[in-house]
Amino acid sequence: MKKHDVIVVGGGLAGLRAAWKVSDFADTAVVSKIHPLRSHTGAAQGGIAASLGNATPDSWEEHMFDTVKGSDYLGDQDVIEVLVKEAPQTIYELEHLGVAFSRTEEGKIAQRAFGGHTKPRACYAADWTGHTLLHTVYEQCVPKKIKFYDEWFALSVAVQDGVCRGIVALEIPTGRIEIFHSKSVIITTGGYGRAFKITSNALANTGDGLNLALGAGLPLEDMEFVQFHPTGLYRHGILLTEGARGEGGYLINRTGERFMKRYAPEKMELAPRDVISRAEQTEMDEGKGIDGKDFVYLDLRHLGAAKILEALPQTRDLAMSFAGVDPIKNPIPIQPTAHYSMGGIPTTIAGQVIMDEKNTPVAGLYAAGECACVSMHGANRLGTNSLLDAAMFGKRAAESAIEYLKGAEHQPFPEEVCESAKEKVRRLRVANGPESAPKLRHELQETMTQKCGIFRDEERLDECLAKIRELQDRFQRIGIGDRSLTFNTEIIEALETQNLLEFSEIIVYGAIARRESRGAHWRVDYPKRDDQNWLKHTMAFKKEGKIELRYKDVTITKFPPKERGY
Ligand code: FUM
Repeated sequence: MKKHDVIVVGGGLAGLRAAWKVSDFADTAVVSKIHPLRSHTGAAQGGIAASLGNATPDSWEEHMFDTVKGSDYLGDQDVIEVLVKEAPQTIYELEHLGVAFSRTEEGKIAQRAFGGHTKPRACYAADWTGHTLLHTVYEQCVPKKIKFYDEWFALSVAVQDGVCRGIVALEIPTGRIEIFHSKSVIITTGGYGRAFKITSNALANTGDGLNLALGAGLPLEDMEFVQFHPTGLYRHGILLTEGARGEGGYLINRTGERFMKRYAPEKMELAPRDVISRAEQTEMDEGKGIDGKDFVYLDLRHLGAAKILEALPQTRDLAMSFAGVDPIKNPIPIQPTAHYSMGGIPTTIAGQVIMDEKNTPVAGLYAAGECACVSMHGANRLGTNSLLDAAMFGKRAAESAIEYLKGAEHQPFPEEVCESAKEKVRRLRVANGPESAPKLRHELQETMTQKCGIFRDEERLDECLAKIRELQDRFQRIGIGDRSLTFNTEIIEALETQNLLEFSEIIVYGAIARRESRGAHWRVDYPKRDDQNWLKHTMAFKKEGKIELRYKDVTITKFPPKERGY
């Protein structure tokens, strides 16, 4: 058994910011299934939002309104207000930690335009912003007394009598399963794009943290809201930053038309992601994709070589390496790609995980970053608000943990939580059925993309749910060829697949229930937003194999809902 005051599960930006903060006050460990520097934060490209006003005058009020409107009024406005007010301070803190932001001529932090933001407020490091943030914050963690457990896969979080007691994790190199006994746990495991076939997400993004919560009997919030980023590299889904459009890039269809003028005449290519992804999908469905296929072009040629090389070097590298296209000379084939989960583990504004729709916190359990739903992004996140969310709410969760730890003791660890985690892995180790986890995962990704994608309707969603349940059933009959304990990645893949199947069921169940269109959740059979009946958060519980949906009010403070147009 390992013993620490705080266990941070996940080593991306949210986790490292949490660990960096809390480790000054408590014995802290980071448990991550991959090395922290391989975390998906490193793939974030275009920027991190704050109303610094370095490019044009700006204010937190404008950032707040843009975020509320972008969220299609489902974001909690008290949370959004905190986010946007603290954003400038967060940027300066990161700068002082050593983040090498791009600069203006006068040496100020440079800011570029991004979708749905009415002012250029994305602070950036060329198109390596996430990578730069991740490496800098990790560097700052190294000299601290943080114990890193890399390549440990978290199997369960122990919550008993409303109090968190630690986690159980599997060491991937050895197969050893251990209790991590702690007073507090901060879950920061990132997103779940790997439930879809075309995704910008890293292979590691299988939503494991969501299942830690579900396994402890806790709900998930607003899972039906899945963001599709408009510029995934065709076929690969790899992110090509919205910063490319922020710098002036165009989207064009097979006739060379900048089709966004028909969907968002004012904002064009800088409309929010839900609007643009739907526009692209519509163009492709109507045969206006390039050569009638399922992609359109991102055209950067008019920006010129100097601009592309200075501001978008990674975008160019990715296009050349994976599509054989040099954006200086040719347009890049792109398609929408599953990018971000607006839903997740519900938390309070202080990052405490809650156990019900009445906001009752679990003592000692926190969540932050993409795996959490606090909820500031509502039905559709604006680009650059997620790095901000991760950096800021990672730290806020740590601050809450620091307060909690002042009066907390290690509580007895429930042995049965460890036993059932061990039993789950033992069953996989001896599994010799005819089904294969990679095949089930592949079928899930196809189904989610076809039937629970950008455009949804009851018939397809029902089929999707039935298919997921079939896959869950077939999972009980999988076989594992590798019986060894050492780096048994077949078992890890099976555990991840099980996780994908669990929360995907909740995504689809919530999507069937929500009979309206809001943000990224677009129901062709209910194409209008319905504030009368659906201005509310979904809280999904799974008990004894059955999903129960309850609902929670949205916090509206400054901006009453109105029609959303761009
Ligand atoms: O397009 C991008 O650079 C992605 C940023 C984000 O998701 O916030």
